[in-house]
Amino acid sequence: MASKRLVVDVHTHLYLPRYASLLRERTTLPKIITRTRDDGRKDERLVILKDEPSGGRPIGPSYVERDEKLTFMKNHGIDISIVSTANPWLDFLQPKEAHRLSLQLSDDLEEYCSTGPTVTGTSMQLYGFGLLPIVSGISTESLLEAVRQISASSHLKGLIMGTRGVGKGLDDEALDPIWAAISEAGLTVFLHPHYGISEESWGEKNNGHVLPLALGFPMETTIATTRLILSGVFDRFPSLRLLLAHSGGALPQLSSRLASCIDHDPIVASRLKHDARFYLGKLYLDAVCYGPEELGFVSDIIARSNRYETSSKNVASGGRSSGSGRMLFGTDHPFFPPLSSSERWKSVVENLDAIENVQGWTEADKNGVKGGNAISLFNL
Ligand code: URA
Ligand code: ZN
Repeated sequence: MASKRLVVDVHTHLYLPRYASLLRERTTLPKIITRTRDDGRKDERLVILKDEPSGGRPIGPSYVERDEKLTFMKNHGIDISIVSTANPWLDFLQPKEAHRLSLQLSDDLEEYCSTGPTVTGTSMQLYGFGLLPIVSGISTESLLEAVRQISASSHLKGLIMGTRGVGKGLDDEALDPIWAAISEAGLTVFLHPHYGISEESWGEKNNGHVLPLALGFPMETTIATTRLILSGVFDRFPSLRLLLAHSGGALPQLSSRLASCIDHDPIVASRLKHDARFYLGKLYLDAVCYGPEELGFVSDIIARSNRYETSSKNVASGGRSSGSGRMLFGTDHPFFPPLSSSERWKSVVENLDAIENVQGWTEADKNGVKGGNAISLFNL
């Protein structure tokens, strides 16, 4: 399969029917509410963010129905999708329910992926990222059981995870057995934001969802990944595979500043085996940043990490190879639909065009980001 030029979407979401039913039953966040419009028609809305503007976002079959996902894939030339439950996963549940649902939802997702596409005339394939019951108070054994189940599911290639961990974030040593099990199983962690940053930053103007989604989400990913780097997780688990949503947020732009702050901090300076910039080359990043200049910049920053492979800081050697090999196309479907109906979504076309137009990327780089890198990483 690797010789064909396939397009693979690694950032594409759903709410499985079991999860959507749970959200419909709830009266507190997160929830799905039904509104009756002026014309009498019913309208479901997804309310998952704190202080969600406009009473939530419209939610339709594209969030739940597999045929909708496949039609979307067909309309955008996507051959393979690695589908993940959308935020906020199981974060709001008590440990017992989170544990039970994580196992059921990973089973549901395996079935969703393995029972075959139903759009005629196509050979599209579905894979998935499972879920861990990663909530406060959960036992390590319950988390390990969920890792084992995902690992035993042939269509699940990793797991999607938020940034809260078991209550103290992802730099919590309590998660070490989980990182060990995930690494050992060869699974990839898709790190995805949900909480953003304090809403006080957004002021009083009604800017819709723009500030939390454009800035809050990527900053959350930036902070969580930086804390992971600072905690030495990548020194303890060098084979841990982490895929960052939204091209790693601001981390590429801030990585030299981070390295400098570490070097000048007496508490942290000698903690890590490598210069902070080294760890960026250990990450995988989706290519969901909507512009060719940003993609080119991020790949240059990843490529630069090979200059920092030794523990002596600022080793200024090493060739300039493209970091595109660690970047993977994504759509964030079904979020960001066009405001007026259109078969091809602007949010997707922009990301595909961005890949095509990165200065200095070869055809091989572009094909890698569109699909080849995912095929290798996930052994598809
Ligand atoms: N993309 C997501 O994955 N989740 C959101 O809530 C919004 C955009
Ligand atoms: Zn997403």
